[in-house]
Amino acid sequence: MQLKGKHILVGVTGGIAAYKTPMLVREFVRRGAEVKVVMTPMARQFVTPLTLATVSKNPIVVDFFDPENGQWNSHVSLGTWTDAYVIAPATANTLAKMANGMADNLLLTTYLSARCVVFAAPAMDLDMMSHPATVKNIETLRERGVEIIEAAEGELASGLSGKGRMAEPQDIAYGVESYFARREGSMRGRRILVTAGPTYEKIDPVRFIGNYSSGKMGYAIAEELGSRGANVVLVSGPVKMSARSTNIEVVKVESAKQMLAAAQSAFGECDAAIMTAAVADFAPEEVADQKIKRHGDYTIKLVANPDIAAELGRMKTGRQVIAGFALETNDEMRNAHGKLEKKNMDFIVLNSLADKGAGFMTDTNKVTIIEKDGTTTPYPLKSKSDVAIDIVDTLERTMSSTK
Ligand code: C5P
Repeated sequence: MQLKGKHILVGVTGGIAAYKTPMLVREFVRRGAEVKVVMTPMARQFVTPLTLATVSKNPIVVDFFDPENGQWNSHVSLGTWTDAYVIAPATANTLAKMANGMADNLLLTTYLSARCVVFAAPAMDLDMMSHPATVKNIETLRERGVEIIEAAEGELASGLSGKGRMAEPQDIAYGVESYFARREGSMRGRRILVTAGPTYEKIDPVRFIGNYSSGKMGYAIAEELGSRGANVVLVSGPVKMSARSTNIEVVKVESAKQMLAAAQSAFGECDAAIMTAAVADFAPEEVADQKIKRHGDYTIKLVANPDIAAELGRMKTGRQVIAGFALETNDEMRNAHGKLEKKNMDFIVLNSLADKGAGFMTDTNKVTIIEKDGTTTPYPLKSKSDVAIDIVDTLERTMSSTK
């Protein structure tokens, strides 16, 4: 609930993507924000004020005054009420007016008088989007501090396909949430490395050695860190997941060697690392450059991969914290303690394959966190995002005592 208590003003302009704004309003409400909506007169052709008033639980403002009773709608009071003004969709027309200081509707006068952060989510046809005038207007707004939420590529209302679709409501909400987290979150200013997913070790151009890791635990940890305002470097093996928080920078790798190189180059700048990747222990000594043909049996010689956690453990300075995972099938406690020490970790998250619902590919996990000083905390079976909260709480506590 990173937006709890925040006042968000949604500005809706006249583009087809306006039909998604009720969903956007709900995303903000769901995150605990209070939402008001201002629309341009044209926007009413695409989404009704009644819908937006219902989902935002507040009356919608469109005109400078109410023609029925002459009541004045003050752009100044809207501008001072709001903590974030989110203009979505932002049409080419509105962006041009914003860049040139025009003020012929309430949405624009509110923009010109707003003292809070302003976000704009452009949405238009691809040729309008790439027109030098629009490109320049967006650049001007960016230079003036408007947070641009990039349009996505895909199918457009015109039937054409390209860049111009408004970012999805959830992604706009993530963008706003990440912005506040960077300024107000408990981990703001911290830089954290997370490794996630499996590694693939090439055998030939079409085959590899991999494992069943889905990346879910690592991505959940990265999201939790991002939602607390940390800058996250997520070094990820091949997974189907994608990061939502805009505080996460994803570095995609394939093999253990690539993961090691990416992790080593990021770690120097980081305050901590959480190693969740299921790194392959071995890789083929040689990679065939042609597809290996079937002529009966075939033997591959495997050589040991680098231990990324242990390498970072060697690089670690007194102000840095490292946490890792131990996935065990037997002798769990002893093995986990051994790894903690050998890899110079500050705490280790033990999960046992003997526990139902724990480990690979599941949406849940059951962990025990073992700290360097021997403190051992078992947790019940939880969703991976709830487990991520426990892990990041432990990280925050460890970091505050490591300073
Ligand atoms: O030794 P083991 O593979 O059980 O250790 C697990 C921990 O070490 C995890 O945190 C994992 O991400 C990390 N690890 C690593 N590089 C390896 C093997 C494991 O970073 N080659």
